Amino acid sequence: KKVVLAYSGGLDTSAIIPWLKENYNNCEIVAFCADIGQDPAELVGLTEKALASGASECHIVDLKEEFVKDYIYPTIATGAIYEGTYLLGTSMARPIIAKAQVEVARKVGADALAHGCTGKGNDQVRFEGCFAALAPDLKVIAPWREWTMQSREDLLAYLAERHIKTSASATKIYSRDANAWHISTEGGELESPWNEPSKAVWTWTVDPEDAPDAPEYVTVEVKDCRVTAVNGEQLAPYAALVKLNEIAAAHGVGRVDITENRLVGMKSRGCYETPGGTVMMAALRAVEELVLDKTSRAWREQVAAQMAHLVYDGRWFTPLCGSLLAASEALAKDVNGEVVIKLYKGQATPVKKRSPNSLYSEAFATFGEDTVYDQKHAEGFIRLYSLASRIRAINSNK
Ligand code: ARG
Ligand code: SIN
Repeated sequence: KKVVLAYSGGLDTSAIIPWLKENYNNCEIVAFCADIGQDPAELVGLTEKALASGASECHIVDLKEEFVKDYIYPTIATGAIYEGTYLLGTSMARPIIAKAQVEVARKVGADALAHGCTGKGNDQVRFEGCFAALAPDLKVIAPWREWTMQSREDLLAYLAERHIKTSASATKIYSRDANAWHISTEGGELESPWNEPSKAVWTWTVDPEDAPDAPEYVTVEVKDCRVTAVNGEQLAPYAALVKLNEIAAAHGVGRVDITENRLVGMKSRGCYETPGGTVMMAALRAVEELVLDKTSRAWREQVAAQMAHLVYDGRWFTPLCGSLLAASEALAKDVNGEVVIKLYKGQATPVKKRSPNSLYSEAFATFGEDTVYDQKHAEGFIRLYSLASRIRAINSNK
């Protein structure tokens, strides 16, 4: 009777509104849009648009602070990076959107949830995985898996037949997804990994070739493995990210081009821009270098590897997620300090770091005399450390 649709105002979700009404007994459609720091222009006139397409209400929920504080910060504390380079910008956004969508559904007494993800991607799995965990009683409708429309032309014709106005055009080269952390670009020439991304792919970061010839230094303060200040200014999570985005984007920092394994089995190629996020990750890892001992660091990396798959695969609302975050928080409480990062033509390089919890000691590392390290002790350590090798060698010489 009543469906809450994750609505963006784009062509796909605009066509979904009349389609749901026609195919699901003239149900009432409540449009829902999460503000997670995407281009604010996307939100302008959104309610009018939703109503013009046939929705009865439109809820726009501001989740910007919560997104950075409760989803991004805990995830980057673990160090999660998918398949070597992807900082999970789209993946991290799905659980918070799904959760807010369920909350709207409860508020308006809806009995179904709908989304505009295709049947070929990760996002359908993420949304529906979260719905399953949070609202197993609500029906899920995924029009892209049901209707026969294939192209933008089909969708435009569908809306035209129903006299629903849209500003969308038939030619839209790329598929994009944006939030405060990143923007992803897929499709167009990127579908061939043998094509270099054209200039038009990148919409946020300056081309490193056109970036300033002089480096810029940015100072990042880290507390509990969270960024708390930028260039001496204390900033709440969202504001810190916005500030670092601005500084880093101007130097072309944060571009990656990856051919990745989707959860549904196929490979896809995407170009992602994560300017501020790239600087944040570099800052956190730099402080860790000073603070985490060898085995703690190795454990943190295992947590990161697990967390990357968990987030990518849409398993946020699971006991495993709580467990991985608890592990990471136990290490995070010592990750405090300050890092100076040099931004230069696409690179973000930590060049200075210090921490009150640093295990690094110039006095201990020096080759001069010191109090904690007696070089004679190394002999016995190496003797026992290599004992198995010694025995194996002795045996093989018999
Ligand atoms: N491939 C990336 C991911 O799976 C980006 C997906 C972009 N999603 C979108 N609806 N355009 O996380
Ligand atoms: C989609 O297919 O809806 C976007 C891409 C993805 O989810 O991987």
